[in-house]
Amino acid sequence: MNPTLTNLAYIAAAILFIVGLKMLGRATTARRGNAVSSLGMLLAIVVTLLEQGMAYEWILVGAVLGSVVGGAAARLVKMTAMPEMVGLFNGFGGLASLLVGWAEYHRQAAQSVSALTATWVAVCLAVLIGGVTFTGSMVAYGKLAEKITGKPILFKNQHLANGALLLAVLAVAVLYVLFPAGALGYSLLMVLILLALVLGVLSVIPIGGADMPVVISLLNSYSGLAACAAGFVINNTVLVVAGALVGASGLILTNIMCKAMNRSLANVLFSGFGSAASAGGGAAYQGEARPISAEDAYLLLEAANSVVFVPGYGMAVAQAQHAVRELGQLLEANGAEVQYCIHPVAGRMPGHMNVLLAEANVPYEQLVEPQDVNPVMATVDIAIVIGANDVVNPAAREDQQSPLYGMPIINVDHARTCIVLKRSLNPGFAGVDNPLFFKENTRMLFGDAKATVSALVAEFKGA
Ligand code: TAP
Repeated sequence: MNPTLTNLAYIAAAILFIVGLKMLGRATTARRGNAVSSLGMLLAIVVTLLEQGMAYEWILVGAVLGSVVGGAAARLVKMTAMPEMVGLFNGFGGLASLLVGWAEYHRQAAQSVSALTATWVAVCLAVLIGGVTFTGSMVAYGKLAEKITGKPILFKNQHLANGALLLAVLAVAVLYVLFPAGALGYSLLMVLILLALVLGVLSVIPIGGADMPVVISLLNSYSGLAACAAGFVINNTVLVVAGALVGASGLILTNIMCKAMNRSLANVLFSGFGSAASAGGGAAYQGEARPISAEDAYLLLEAANSVVFVPGYGMAVAQAQHAVRELGQLLEANGAEVQYCIHPVAGRMPGHMNVLLAEANVPYEQLVEPQDVNPVMATVDIAIVIGANDVVNPAAREDQQSPLYGMPIINVDHARTCIVLKRSLNPGFAGVDNPLFFKENTRMLFGDAKATVSALVAEFKGA
């Protein structure tokens, strides 16, 4: 294929990636954005195949197998298990980059050509970042899917050991770039792969399960960088561009999540958040929670002029979004102003609540940001919390000893009345007790969120 045509097609593919990414930023255009980016990827693959004049058979087998597995996984996965799936896919992306680097070593050796130093550097990076991404993502998957403990696994001098390992990795990488040929080069590459795999495991095990979505987003960024390095290895411009886009967007998302939790990335990676050591602070709040029945909650809601729904992970577990939407409509019909306030880290993945509410056709105009609703929360008649916990925990504002202290929250306790829908007084994912349950103006409506919201809907309908 003509090189100019190839490059033009690659530029078109890159434009499609970027336009698609931009469209992902709005719920209304996100689906089409996905399709546009996929089209870019198809173009990139077809052009690469034509350009390299490769034998198609095995590639077709791989593409069909991959599509079947990916399609089935996407259809079968539960919404709540999405972060695990993203974690797995990141890991495989890293593994693919590692294999590309490894294969390039063999290709160069078979052709007995002396590659440029830059190629060996790229091979090192692909193998190193790819290896760390692969095992790191597998550990993150294990923690999220509860296949291994979600608690941070800590041991003495851990940071020192990880630092030493990182230095060893860098030393072996430099040696490899200096002596890539022959048996020595091959042994160094194998040691590098091994150390990268171990580093991936050791750097993720000290991080608690609650921080896994952040880690997965960071590993997503690594998988992009690994792909970028693989692009340099095989001299493929579009792979470099796609990898850089994934790398950058993963980092941006990681940053957004850290900000929403008011924590630095270093704190997420190195503090062992969620371990016994880190959970030292924070009071065990005592008091009397005030349970309320669906009938009484209905009476409060029926008299309310303004209601703010605050959904959280429990709404996803209960799949209560459709019932919540129906309740919202009934409240509106009853003359109340209804809004939905979504915290950026509510649920278990970025945009988790937005997706669920969009699925239930909640109008976008009714979605409000915490920073917009918090200043006027005192004028809200009822804040109704649907299975959220950490993101409405006032200890984040009031208790300097709390591990959550400093995290921006939705100030539901400032509303005239707050009704909390959950099954018990148990803490949320961060494992931190919540004084909200014992506040004067809080009422606890215990039970599965779908059942309790449906009971409220039934009260409205029966009235
Ligand atoms: P959580 O604090 O995890 O609380 C969810 C609550 O839902 C639980 O306390 C649970 O209480 C309740 N629940 C579970 N199943 C339920 C059901 N069927 N019906 C009713 N309630 C149910 O959720 P959140 O407030 O959304 O906070 C998210 C947490 O994840 C934060 O700690 C956040 O930092 C962390 N995190 C999220 C992200 C992203 S990107 N979303 C990233 C990193 C970390 P019961 O057991 O008593 O019912």
